[in-house]
Amino acid sequence: MTTGFKACFGCHSTPFTREIGNDQLHDFSFFHEARDNTMRAIEKRMSAAIISAAGSGKSTVVRAVMGRLPEARYLTHYVKCTDVGKRDMCREIACVCSVQSSGAFPILLRRIQDKFESCLTESGRRPVLFLDEAHDLKPDVLSMLRVLTNFQMDSKLVLSVVLAGQPPLARLLSQDAQEAIARRIIHYSTLRPLSRDETAKYVEYRMGIAGARQSPFDEASLDAIYEIARGNLRITDNLALTALELAAAAKLKVVSAQHIAAARRVQWPS
Ligand SMILES: Nc1ncnc2c1ncn2[C@@H]1O[C@H](COP(=O)(O)OP(=O)(O)OP(=O)(O)O)[C@@H](O)[C@H]1O
Ligand SMILES: [Mg+2]
Repeated sequence: MTTGFKACFGCHSTPFTREIGNDQLHDFSFFHEARDNTMRAIEKRMSAAIISAAGSGKSTVVRAVMGRLPEARYLTHYVKCTDVGKRDMCREIACVCSVQSSGAFPILLRRIQDKFESCLTESGRRPVLFLDEAHDLKPDVLSMLRVLTNFQMDSKLVLSVVLAGQPPLARLLSQDAQEAIARRIIHYSTLRPLSRDETAKYVEYRMGIAGARQSPFDEASLDAIYEIARGNLRITDNLALTALELAAAAKLKVVSAQHIAAARRVQWPS
């Protein structure tokens, strides 16, 4: 079905997927703002957070920041958080940092810190730890991060942490027990939903980078997408892709509001 629908709309690749290169991103101003402010916090050797709804573009901002930090000056590590306890999380961080992950928790913590410190002193590269899906972190894991970022009794800034997560992360960080880690975060970014016009431009743009010369979505279909997705990128992607497949299956060259309604039923059968 996928090959057929791509040929039908003149696409060389599947549009609306997560697989979008950093050089192909749409230049939403709020996206640039989040990316640049996060980079500025890292350049100041501090930490940052990106907090917004599911499917709003957080991981894409993280990838864009990671792609822009010069390799000669920064060593980046990416961890997708789960709701595990601090020991397991520590092991996960050890793995992505190529640190031996066996042994007792305090030793492991020390080993990771040593690795970060030696990275800076031996190669002059600053370690940056990106924790995606950070709303899933347990409070004791956040407290552990506080220990991980403390070097020489807090007199030396070695590690920057970037937390990306859904709104419950803000609640987690506002707890008294997390004050120390929250203080390290010098910039909080949010990613707002798209407007109706931005949604239309986004859909056209995603079709364009997939190779389509012309977007097949008519105005009523764009209204319908916006009405359902309310500017959420992930929902927009899912609706648009399913609607394209439905239109192609019906051998139609135009995607209409009916296809969006049908796509909604496929996505969320009631
Ligand atoms: N600047 C952009 N240009 C083009 N597409 C984008 C941009 N930002 C995000 N997207 C697209 O929007 C979709 C959602 O983005 P992303 O996966 O980053 O959201 P998220 O907030 O991390 O979602 P979740 O909370 O589910 O992890 C992806 O398909 C991504 O390719
Ligand atoms: Mg994500």
